[in-house]
Amino acid sequence: MENFPSVLESIEDLSKRQIDGVLGLAHRIKNRSDTPFYFSNKTPIIATSFLENSTRTKHSFEIAISKLGCTYIDFNSEKSSLKKGESLEQTLLTLNDQGVDLCIIRTSVSNQLSEFKEKPPIKIINGGDGVNEHPTQALLDVFTLIECGIELKGKTFCIAGDNIHSRVGHSLIKLLPQFGAKILLFGPKSFLPDQLPKEVEVTYDREEVLKRSDILYLLRVQTERHTHNEENNLLDYSEKYGFTLEMIESLSRKIPVLHPGPANIGVEICNQLINSKYYLGHEQVRNSIYLRMALIQAMLQNGAKNIGFNENTFFKF
Ligand code: CP
Repeated sequence: MENFPSVLESIEDLSKRQIDGVLGLAHRIKNRSDTPFYFSNKTPIIATSFLENSTRTKHSFEIAISKLGCTYIDFNSEKSSLKKGESLEQTLLTLNDQGVDLCIIRTSVSNQLSEFKEKPPIKIINGGDGVNEHPTQALLDVFTLIECGIELKGKTFCIAGDNIHSRVGHSLIKLLPQFGAKILLFGPKSFLPDQLPKEVEVTYDREEVLKRSDILYLLRVQTERHTHNEENNLLDYSEKYGFTLEMIESLSRKIPVLHPGPANIGVEICNQLINSKYYLGHEQVRNSIYLRMALIQAMLQNGAKNIGFNENTFFKF
């Protein structure tokens, strides 16, 4: 695989060749036709630094790290010197000096990782930054569809719900066209971004979503990111924008329903739909381990070399 970026912040940081390489490797790891690589010189050390809550992303990275045979550091920001005012950059440089090879970071600050791209203090994978992007979730979603034999080329992929606050939605908009999918966004007007690539369509009509979608991707209403005014959107949300099993069963064709989780059951998705055969959420979680194993392996093996404050950057006494 060609050189991977030192900081994977956005889907745009990967070429299509690299994306295909990671998906292929994830498939081979899943099917045990490619065993995770053997670390001949040094067992890599990988840290996760989750500055915002997570169940799926954090634990799936932890399991992927353990399955790859790497040493794992669970960086606890609450107990760290970040609390004494140390910057995130100095923290990451310290981890690099301690021999940590890669850090997976989740932060509530959008674009916080951009500042590390020019002079990376350590290799970084974005585990979700504010409302900006969640590239590994988007990659595992596409991986799940491919693994389930669901074609993306020429298909209408509807992303329904709180699009404006959804970091995975933003990553999917960049990723799906590379696989030939057409994107349709649905939700209340105030949940849809003002500026969108011209090929992305928008609808406020749930009937149109049901008529046109080949794949339905539901998003959680992210109340923690809402202003007071936006709370009004929730009053009749499920009635106007939620999806039920009945709606999916009424279609003549059968469509898969995905959700990155966590779901607000009874808001964007009903209990019967989340427990139905159309729902691929459990497959998404299962596949996340293989996709993240492949991505870690690719970053470690093919990542750029010039990281941190190395011996060439200080004065020779
Ligand atoms: N999909 C996702 O990012 O879930 P968590 O917030 O539980 O990691």
